[in-house]
Amino acid sequence: MTERTAVTDEARFDDADQIVDIVDAVLGRHEVPSVRAWLRHTIGTPGSWRVVRDQSAPPGVAAPIVSVAACIPMPIRLGSVSIPAARIDFVATRASDRGQGHASRLVRELLADSDRRGDLVQLTDGLPYFYRQFGFGYALNPPGTVVLPRAGAAGSPGDRDVDGRPLTIRPAVTADIERLDRYVAASTSGFDIAPGELPWTTWLEISAGATDTDHLLVAESDGAIVGFTRAHLDGDDVLRIQASYADSPGVARRIHGALAAIRNNGLLALDCGNAAWRDHLAAQAPVVTLPFGISARTPDPVELLGLLRPEFDRRLADASTSKTDRKLRLSMFTSTVVLEILRGKIADVRPASPVEDPAAPDDAAIAPDWFPALVFGRWGARGLAERVDDVISGTDPSAMNNLFPALNAHALVDL
Ligand SMILES: CC(C)(COP(=O)(O)OP(=O)(O)OC[C@H]1O[C@@H](n2cnc3c(N)ncnc32)[C@H](O)[C@@H]1OP(=O)(O)O)[C@@H](O)C(=O)NCCC(=O)NCCS
Repeated sequence: MTERTAVTDEARFDDADQIVDIVDAVLGRHEVPSVRAWLRHTIGTPGSWRVVRDQSAPPGVAAPIVSVAACIPMPIRLGSVSIPAARIDFVATRASDRGQGHASRLVRELLADSDRRGDLVQLTDGLPYFYRQFGFGYALNPPGTVVLPRAGAAGSPGDRDVDGRPLTIRPAVTADIERLDRYVAASTSGFDIAPGELPWTTWLEISAGATDTDHLLVAESDGAIVGFTRAHLDGDDVLRIQASYADSPGVARRIHGALAAIRNNGLLALDCGNAAWRDHLAAQAPVVTLPFGISARTPDPVELLGLLRPEFDRRLADASTSKTDRKLRLSMFTSTVVLEILRGKIADVRPASPVEDPAAPDDAAIAPDWFPALVFGRWGARGLAERVDDVISGTDPSAMNNLFPALNAHALVDL
């Protein structure tokens, strides 16, 4: 097949089975329940699924799909601000059709749709060097991972919640969703960055239909939710615990125990930052940090910084050094954004012409692919400038760092 005979297209409802087949063949059988549920919820929503059809099929034969990709809206909370965001996932091209630009075209088109929809951030944890060509850069710290020991180390039915009451661990049901939302909102309130919402309905559907690959469990005590966990079978027969919260070490042990009863080896836990869960993990085995960050792309830095004005105002109010009126020019080499600070608040965020010399005396500068790391506070402006050559804090590094401090991010879960 040649590129001439392939066309990209919005996926239609009747493409779902073919998309599932490709995901099954390319990404693995364990992704099938998940892709089915996500298709059920999102196919037909403009800009969410795109496919490449091979037009070289004989007349009368429907053009088979050879490449697929999805972009699923999923907002992020930064401080008190909800940022419209999306995740790129399920990107797969049939082995016989690779290297012809199919996946690149799909991703480019999905990103354009997402930009038009008003998403100000796109995230992916896919192949970093593939995504770099679309403007993605490492933006958020990856979660630590822990290979959990066998069931023997895990909890016993005698474990109780914080107040010593008995615990029940059971599959989540639809009636739990409202309480789960409240529980997660309360559990993540201490994080600067967290998922804006979790896809409970889709997760419930996946785990209800696929008990060998997916699990959504809640820990309940006296009618109150005191923990939950979402686990998804990964490629090599590894049950990956993508998100888990617990109110106490006893709850964390029991959640671990329930998962270990499902799969007695190959339990890989992500550290999503919840204190009781993190302490439990740390007591089990060494925490290993993945070598690269979660990638993000920002289509419109001016718009994103404008949306974050309430956060900047809060940071300016907290900071002791940055109340002087000034214009902070942040060069991104091909464009510039100006943050105007007046009476301790951001009075304006506007674009300006590119600065030819990115290290001009009173400008800060950052390569565009590191901009998301600055906004999402991976190391703070100071730490970022220390690590990355083409990040320059300018003449007032402490003002830059007050505006862009290191942030405490809750690991963003996979789909
Ligand atoms: C990655 C994948 C989707 C690319 O599909 P494709 O239709 O061949 O993609 P394109 O032809 O648009 O682009 C291929 C480019 O991606 C590059 N690429 C492929 N795998 C890569 C990897 N692991 N890391 C970096 N680049 C990679 C190729 O080298 C090629 O680069 P070139 O254009 O400079 O020659 C396909 O190889 C695939 O389905 N892989 C298995 C599934 C997978 O890993 N999916 C996760 C993606 S997040």
